[in-house]
Amino acid sequence: MPKEITVGLIGAGLIGTAHSLYLSAIQKKKVLPLRLKAVADPDPVRLERLTRAFAWESKSFEPQAVIEDPEVNAVFVCTPTAFHKPYVEAAAEKGKAVFCEKPLAFTAAEARQMLQAVEEAGVVHQVGLVLRAGPVWNALKSLVRRPESGFPITCIFRDDQCFPVKGMHDSAWRSRQELAGAGTLLEHSIHDLDIMEWMFGRIHQVQATTASRFGHAGIEDLARVWVEFESGMTATLVSVWHDVLHRHSNRRVEVFCEKAYYAIEAEFFGTLDYMMADRSLKTLSDDEVFDLSLQTRGITDPNEKKLARIYGVLQDYYFCRAVLAEAKAEPGFETAVRAHELVDACYQSAREAKPIGW
Ligand SMILES: NC(=O)c1ccc[n+]([C@@H]2O[C@H](COP(=O)([O-])OP(=O)(O)OC[C@H]3O[C@@H](n4cnc5c(N)ncnc54)[C@H](O)[C@@H]3O)[C@@H](O)[C@H]2O)c1
Repeated sequence: MPKEITVGLIGAGLIGTAHSLYLSAIQKKKVLPLRLKAVADPDPVRLERLTRAFAWESKSFEPQAVIEDPEVNAVFVCTPTAFHKPYVEAAAEKGKAVFCEKPLAFTAAEARQMLQAVEEAGVVHQVGLVLRAGPVWNALKSLVRRPESGFPITCIFRDDQCFPVKGMHDSAWRSRQELAGAGTLLEHSIHDLDIMEWMFGRIHQVQATTASRFGHAGIEDLARVWVEFESGMTATLVSVWHDVLHRHSNRRVEVFCEKAYYAIEAEFFGTLDYMMADRSLKTLSDDEVFDLSLQTRGITDPNEKKLARIYGVLQDYYFCRAVLAEAKAEPGFETAVRAHELVDACYQSAREAKPIGW
């Protein structure tokens, strides 16, 4: 078993910076033996900015240098989606654990090949489906499943974001099909389809339409999806990119159960409104939601509780812990493959103008 986790990072952009922050928090709190060993990005400005801001020990313009660094035992792949597959496969071939950002690839078929590569190499793997670590989602999931809620009937899920080539995003690749694969459904709402199935159970049919108002070829900026679950529950998802610069990434979700109503308007941390049969509308505060999510997830360790207060950190902490223990990490690439299958089915439904089921 490795004595320490020695991280290599490929892609020093937005999410590469976020992971540097998460990993630095873990390092500073000394909860795991961790080194920020090597980072690579072909863009000199971003590379310089990241290595100045965080304690990366070495830097390179060449991603292969990170993969081949003999001290690196875990590689974070944080590049535009088009490059995930070759870097994941190269890292797995060198026996390195891999954390890859979502979407893993453009299609479920490619994601399956990536799963096969990491499984055959026997390396720890995890995908950045970070919402699963979010307090609001964990709290909502546990409340919907309470017997007092009665059976879940329907969910209205809205995901909106400024077209991610502006605002907080200072790169243009999400408007180019050859780099992003597709638009809002693959790039952003893969999270939503994953989280819906995680909260409400197996999806057995989707029907979707897509549109492109901003005119980037192959990049839909509006998707509407009708979802049916095996339980009989239904959901509607609207995923939209717009030009309201200050709206970075927002999700509003309402769930109607037989005897309860729940609503959140949050990404990760936030409040939760609810109404049980014959009672007035109440709000769980940020702290109450956070405490409920800890309880739901069985988190009692004081270090974990502290890390859980910072967006995304627990996700990286669990990956690092799995690498050290040579154990299974969650969510692994198999979870990503299923999310890709859901996304693929939506695109197929939109193309063929018919529902797609399993
Ligand atoms: N989990 C999440 O919530 C989340 C959030 C944001 C982004 N992402 C995903 O992370 C990935 C990166 O997104 P981002 O927002 O950080 O993009 P970004 O444009 O901010 O950063 C990407 C970086 O990769 C570098 N790069 C480009 N081509 C490269 C190559 N061939 N090899 C190595 N590096 C290269 C760029 O110079 C840039 O610094 C995408 O797949 C995106 O979908 C996930």
